[in-house]
Amino acid sequence: MKNIVILISGGGSNMAAIARAAREEDWGRRHGAAVAAVISNRQDAPGLGIARSLGIATAVVSHKSFESRERFDDALADAIDAYSPTLVVLAGFMRILTPPFVSRYQGRLLNIHPSLLPAFPGLDTHRRAIEAGCRIAGATVHEVTADLDHGPILAQAAVPVMADDTPERLAERVLAVEHRLYPKSVADWLMRGSSRQA
Ligand code: GRF
Repeated sequence: MKNIVILISGGGSNMAAIARAAREEDWGRRHGAAVAAVISNRQDAPGLGIARSLGIATAVVSHKSFESRERFDDALADAIDAYSPTLVVLAGFMRILTPPFVSRYQGRLLNIHPSLLPAFPGLDTHRRAIEAGCRIAGATVHEVTADLDHGPILAQAAVPVMADDTPERLAERVLAVEHRLYPKSVADWLMRGSSRQA
């Protein structure tokens, strides 16, 4: 079985979209894959309760318990590796990862970013897109590399920016397309993985 481990920090709506797609589209039969665990760096992440209600194992590795980024990333990698993952999926995981962590999972570490990369890497993307006068915004699924929000792009989805948009309204519109884009991108990745192995 190809284990998928999903990392979250907050609401976990992308994680839930992936977990539901895995169930509804029977990824076990189609891809030999399953969401094995959801891991959060925050004990109070609402997504943890959603994961449990979907019958998925959860774990917390709090960044506050470690004196350095390196130590936190080591503990996080131990928690991830307990599930022997084929794929690690960042879904609203709000920590900058160290280069050793990224290289440990290179090629099997995905992220979703709420902008049309390479535009607007980093935080506060929706406000920045509105202020720049963008007519189109969107989301990008990419492979994670040591360069924040700059890895190879796997998929994108666009939405219009309305004249009277607020960052909150635009975020809602983008999040709705993320919920289709991310599960599809993960399924495509699994499919390519299986054809590579075939
Ligand atoms: C999403 O907009 C994602 O693109 C960004 O953080 C948000 C996470 O939302 N990285 P959720 O936790 O999946 O609901």
